[in-house]
Amino acid sequence: MKALVLSGGKGTRLRPLTFTCAKQLIPVANKPILGYVLDQVAATSIKEVGIITAPETGHFVEAYVADGSAWGLTVCYVPQQPLGLAHAVKTARGFLGQDSFVMCLGDNVTGQGLEGFIKKFNAEHLDALIILKEVDVPSSFGIAQLDKEGNIVRLVEKPKTPMGNLAIIGTYLFSNRVHDAIERIGPSWRGELEITDAIQEMINMGFAVKAEILDSWWLDTGKKDDILSANAIILDEYVQFDVKGSVVNSNIVGRVKVEVDAQIINSIVRGPCVIGRNVLVENSFIGPYTSIGDDSKICNSSLEYCVVQNGVTVRDVERLEDSLIGKNAKVIRNTRGRTLKLHVGDYSELEV
Ligand code: DAU
Repeated sequence: MKALVLSGGKGTRLRPLTFTCAKQLIPVANKPILGYVLDQVAATSIKEVGIITAPETGHFVEAYVADGSAWGLTVCYVPQQPLGLAHAVKTARGFLGQDSFVMCLGDNVTGQGLEGFIKKFNAEHLDALIILKEVDVPSSFGIAQLDKEGNIVRLVEKPKTPMGNLAIIGTYLFSNRVHDAIERIGPSWRGELEITDAIQEMINMGFAVKAEILDSWWLDTGKKDDILSANAIILDEYVQFDVKGSVVNSNIVGRVKVEVDAQIINSIVRGPCVIGRNVLVENSFIGPYTSIGDDSKICNSSLEYCVVQNGVTVRDVERLEDSLIGKNAKVIRNTRGRTLKLHVGDYSELEV
């Protein structure tokens, strides 16, 4: 079995961050989301991974994953125009050959490993195993309708009038028969070759298609608020008290990770949170569910429930909450008056 990890797409919902970064590389708890996906693949017996990349952001993904040896995996890259998830599978046909494969979306993380799904897929000789989870807003996802025995009867991509609340979460296992189904489908109303349509076609063709409901949490990090909740959940799950940097006249409370060469001076840091390498936190409060990227400086400020990427400066900001701040950005309070002075990138959002 192989793995196909989708790290292409357009990332329009996360602009401006995706002008200079692939959306799958946005960090949660100071590690790119794609890193968690590859951790989960590496925890199975799969060794060969194909990574789908987009023309504009592929080089960022390649720089991060390299040859995959950091995960003990052999990685090859499959550049693709973002024309749909089934189009990605079609483009990776050469890499996939006749093998069955697990397909993961590079911007979705779950709290459950892949091994259980692989066992079920193999033991029941399935052609597709689709992982589902109940959601509150079904119209934002691919939705599956099951019969009383739990078999998938119908799948619809982002239905305007949902026929249920079981969303396709972005973990799929396929036999090579998926390629026959993809050959038979055409682009959807949004111009994409949809994997949902391919799975529906597999059902119509009488192939063995089953569903499994995810037991754990699932995070689709497609928008800013999703990244903040992913950050909170991952900090909650994985961070332990581990202080390597220096702490001077400060209070570190709860599960806080402070990386090497970081300095916490005259401050309070309340976990769960992570403070990256070479970060300076001075005269500040860092509240729960916050990640501060490497080389950032937080001075005379108070932050809570934030994702701050590398090289950021935050100074004299009384209260910064629910915020996602891109690399090397500066957020500085103008102390000389009430004027706002902005230098803001395209598609940025500011609430002042
Ligand atoms: O998040 C789960 C949902 O993911 C499912 O419920 C939907 O059925 C499925 O179609 C997908 O919907 P999205 O609209 O969220 O897909 P998105 O465009 O965000 O793409 C998902 C991932 O696949 C993302 O990491 C980008 C990558 N991708 C996307 C496209 C369209 C590619 O690599 N190539 C592509 O052509």
